[in-house]
Amino acid sequence: MIIKTQAELDGILAIGRICGNVLKRMGEAVKPGMTTKELDDICGQLFVEYGAVSAPIHFYKFPGQCCISVNDEVAHGIPGDRVIKAGDLVNIDISAVKDGFVGDTSATFAVPPVKVVNRKLMDAGKEALEAALNAAVAGKPMNGIGLAAQKVARRHGYKIVENLCGHGVGYTLHDKPEAVYNYYEKLDRRMLQHGMCIAIEPFLSLGDDYVEEEADGWTLKTPNRSQVVQYEHSVMVRDGEPPLILTLPDC
Ligand code: CO
Ligand code: CO
Repeated sequence: MIIKTQAELDGILAIGRICGNVLKRMGEAVKPGMTTKELDDICGQLFVEYGAVSAPIHFYKFPGQCCISVNDEVAHGIPGDRVIKAGDLVNIDISAVKDGFVGDTSATFAVPPVKVVNRKLMDAGKEALEAALNAAVAGKPMNGIGLAAQKVARRHGYKIVENLCGHGVGYTLHDKPEAVYNYYEKLDRRMLQHGMCIAIEPFLSLGDDYVEEEADGWTLKTPNRSQVVQYEHSVMVRDGEPPLILTLPDC
C-alpha cells in the first residue's frame, strides 16, 4: 500500500508496534525444553491481549498463530511438538491484523550456548537488514534494497536465499508491490515511492542460496540443510531519509 492519510499511517503504525512487541516478548519467552506449540500459544495469548489477529491464519489458514522455524527450517515452520533445545536457532515470524491493517516482522533468536558460527551469521543477518533498510529511500531503485543486503552477505562470505523475498504490506499480508528481492535483480526497474509500505526480510545462509518446500506444504528448508537466519521489519518509505520502521517494539 501507499500511505496517503494520517489515519492510514496511524493504523499501520499501531499494528506494526503490536507485531514488534509480540516478537520481542516471544523472543524473551524462548526457553529450552518448551515445544514450538507452547511458544505459539504465547503468541496467541499476546494477540488477544493486544486485540490483534494472526495474519497467517486470517489470510492463509496457516496452522499456527505465527511461523516458528528451528535450525534447518528456514521459514513457514508449523508450531508443533518439536522441543526447543540448547544451542538452537529459532526464527519467529509475526504478522498480524488490526482494524484492517497488517504488520510483519521477524527475527532469529539463539538459545544459549550460542555457537560462534551462528553468532557471526546472526550479526551479519542484522547488518544486512540494516543496510537493506537504509537503501529504501523514495526515488531510488527498488533493487537497491537487495543489492545492499547481498553486499553485506558477500562481504561476510554468506549467501542470500534468493527464492524468498520481501513484499508490500498494508491492507493484506502480501500487498503491492510484489516481490521485494533480497538480491540484486537487475531486471527490476521499479522505483521506491514516498508512503510505500514494504516488508524487508533478507535471509542469510551459510551455503545454500535457495529453499525447498517440505511435504507438509509449508515448511521451507535449504537443500543441504545450511543454517539460515532472517530479520524482517515492515517500513514506510520516505523522501530523502531512511524509512520509518513500523514494527519497532515499545515494550
Ligand atoms: Co514475516
Ligand atoms: Co514478510
